Amino acid sequence: MAISFRKVEHNYKGLKKNDFVAALHNINLDIAKDDEFVAVVGQTGSGKSTLVSHMNALLLPTSGEVKIFDYIITPKKRKNPKLKPIRKRIGFVFQFPEYQLFEETVLKDIMFGPKNFGIKEEEAKTKALQAAKLLGISDELLTKSPFNLSGGQMRKVAIAGILAYNPDILLLDEPTRGLDPKTASEVMAIFNKINKEYHKTIIVITHDMNLVYKYANRVIGMKDGQIHFDGKPLDLFSSNIYKECHLAKPDILALVDYLNLKMDLNLGYDIYSEEELLKRLKDVTK
Ligand SMILES: Nc1ncnc2c1ncn2[C@@H]1O[C@H](COP(=O)(O)OP(=O)(O)OP(=O)(O)O)[C@@H](O)[C@H]1O
Ligand SMILES: [Mg+2]
Repeated sequence: MAISFRKVEHNYKGLKKNDFVAALHNINLDIAKDDEFVAVVGQTGSGKSTLVSHMNALLLPTSGEVKIFDYIITPKKRKNPKLKPIRKRIGFVFQFPEYQLFEETVLKDIMFGPKNFGIKEEEAKTKALQAAKLLGISDELLTKSPFNLSGGQMRKVAIAGILAYNPDILLLDEPTRGLDPKTASEVMAIFNKINKEYHKTIIVITHDMNLVYKYANRVIGMKDGQIHFDGKPLDLFSSNIYKECHLAKPDILALVDYLNLKMDLNLGYDIYSEEELLKRLKDVTK
């Protein structure tokens, strides 16, 4: 396994001395190096960002153990100098990308990752330009300051900066937040391509259940700092567990429910697109 959690707890310091906020409780989890497309979902404050931040040692557990490839992260290893190789292998796009950007121009920002991990200037530039192209970042944008971009553009630049150094696993905290629906879909399609063609594991925090149902092959449902569900999207949405996690149903499944009710049908839930639904409808109403 690439990432394993054993009995992980995480407490944040509270406002008063000795106060703390219990953000993660008894987390046990295994994620493979290849082929997983994991969506981390749950209500705001349920612990998603805290969970994912342990996956590249951005946060360290208060107790328990996180294993990332061959590195074992325990509460004691606070000053471990060997975190850099972990960061190289597990790329993380934060929830608020504006904290991640700091160079003079967009291009320099995207080049920062590969350069930081020892790739020479020319090659870093080639990789940065490739990543920018993949994300549809225009040449005109490349010479601008990253601070003059819109939220959605900043998000794309932050994602390109991670793709440019080709980590083994991608962690993305709400990568489609602030993007219009079309761009959000395009960005998810890029992650899907990276997952399918290069077999990389992708871990995405999202509030968009349509994207979860369309792309993820595994869902981790967080509730009050604990893993409430870990399994296939179909199993989450065909039981009541999605309600317990305060999640919405994907639109396509809500439509299946509606048609089943109004037309007295018994369409199954293994339908992922309007085209599939239409085909199924034609079959059953023949
Ligand atoms: N730096 C911090 N200091 C203190 N408490 C924190 C800190 N960051 C998060 N928390 C608390 O930890 C809990 C989990 O927060 P977390 O950010 O992991 O939730 P989340 O599921 O990512 O929420 P969202 O969907 O709003 O991003 C919440 O109760 C939150 O208030
Ligand atoms: Mg969060």
